[in-house]
Amino acid sequence: MSLFAKKPIDVLLEEAKGSGENSLKRTLGSWGLVALGIGAIIGAGLFVRTAAAASQNAGPSVTIGFLIAAVGCALAGLCYAELSSSIPISGSAYTYTYATMGELLAWIIGWDLVLEYAVGAATVGIAWSEYLNNLLVEVFNTSPIPYEWCHSPFQVSTEGVRGILNIPALGIVTAISLLLIRGIQESAFVNNLIVIVKVAIVILVIAFGWSFINPAYHDPYIPAPQKYIDHQGVSHNFGGFLGILGAAGTVFFAFIGFDAVSTAAQETKNPKKAMPFGILGSLVVCTVLYILFAHVLTGLAPLEFFRDPNKGGEASVVAAIQEAMPSYGWLSKSITVAILAGFSSVILVMLLGQSRVFFSMSRDGLLPKVFAEVHPKFKTPYKGNLVILILVAIFAAFIPGDVVGHMTSIGTLFAFMLVCAAVIILRKKEPNLPRQFKTPWVPVLPVLGILSCGLMIFGLGWENWARLGGWLALGFIIYFFYSKKHSKLNNPDK
Ligand code: ALA
Repeated sequence: MSLFAKKPIDVLLEEAKGSGENSLKRTLGSWGLVALGIGAIIGAGLFVRTAAAASQNAGPSVTIGFLIAAVGCALAGLCYAELSSSIPISGSAYTYTYATMGELLAWIIGWDLVLEYAVGAATVGIAWSEYLNNLLVEVFNTSPIPYEWCHSPFQVSTEGVRGILNIPALGIVTAISLLLIRGIQESAFVNNLIVIVKVAIVILVIAFGWSFINPAYHDPYIPAPQKYIDHQGVSHNFGGFLGILGAAGTVFFAFIGFDAVSTAAQETKNPKKAMPFGILGSLVVCTVLYILFAHVLTGLAPLEFFRDPNKGGEASVVAAIQEAMPSYGWLSKSITVAILAGFSSVILVMLLGQSRVFFSMSRDGLLPKVFAEVHPKFKTPYKGNLVILILVAIFAAFIPGDVVGHMTSIGTLFAFMLVCAAVIILRKKEPNLPRQFKTPWVPVLPVLGILSCGLMIFGLGWENWARLGGWLALGFIIYFFYSKKHSKLNNPDK
């Protein structure tokens, strides 16, 4: 069979019904999905990457970056909603691509989604570690974890100490993986609680912080174009349109997750209705909150504050509140605790998404069977979770947050482009497939989605293009040496 063999939709839908020991429990409803979405969405992108994008790329105009990222996500989101309502199956963009563009591209997207989910989880784990230090110092009045034990070997402090291993990041991804193995029902309950707390802190920061905005920090709103070299010696496009594009690619991270909702299709009651609702609902809520939040954050302290690793360069939101609103100690302390909980819920959804993508790929024979083995009691793909844990742990412990954050963004943007293309192709190839939700103005909207995601990839710069290229090249090697030979579609008798 060819590299472009496609998995027939009726086979996919039959599989989705699930049977026997390797099927997942259907426990989630519409609002459960919105909560799952917001649980995945609000996290390190907002509480860590916003300040990074402002200080390295766009200054206060990071808000425009958010707007661009939101437009790209909304367009891709509409495409996701159509696909998830017509192919309501675990595996997200991977499954959609398999049905529309064939095995090789499906493999590429599945492999690329590792950047989104596994590397994304590592990024949030690293952000968690920054806020843990804040908790130790500000809430428990103890000393922080020594620099070398909470940073990667590629990072050096302003005092010249080199990182060795990020232990807190390693710890949190391990703990969440174990929770996931226990099962999604319990996990979704914890997640719902955290979502409420997370939305509450974002609103509190906006409400209390608004009157502390110093208009001088918002002037000029769009800085003049220039190069900015950070203290690790990395050069960034700062200011102007390129700066805004770079910021959009960076804060795009903050939107990642609404598509993770679609990976839970097999665990959703009435997925055809609940999926579009969950995906688009969570996206709208977050966009409004983000733009207001970024406006407040950049108004609380000057850019130099966010560039200084000993001031607002780490745990930026809490640091800015402490700096600009000293009488609000209760706010910064409670936010620290809430952010730690909030990040945990993001890691949970990312790891869930990753294990479900591998689950689908393994059922198709593109990955070893171990990823599709379901625990007899917990009904979760526990062995897959453990293997994924090892991968995520390596990224969390040894790679800097900036690097994994950008890798996550670029990998996801690439996946979104393929999802937009899949909608156009599926409309042509399967015009009569029942679709509960239809993307409006096809092919105009999907094409605009492809263009806006492409623009953000452009804004992320050549180092990140090279990292994406390297990752995909590794994927090709695995495909030709393993997956092609084991694929069920290529070996129907196996
Ligand atoms: N959107 C998620 C976050 O910002 C990945 O942490």
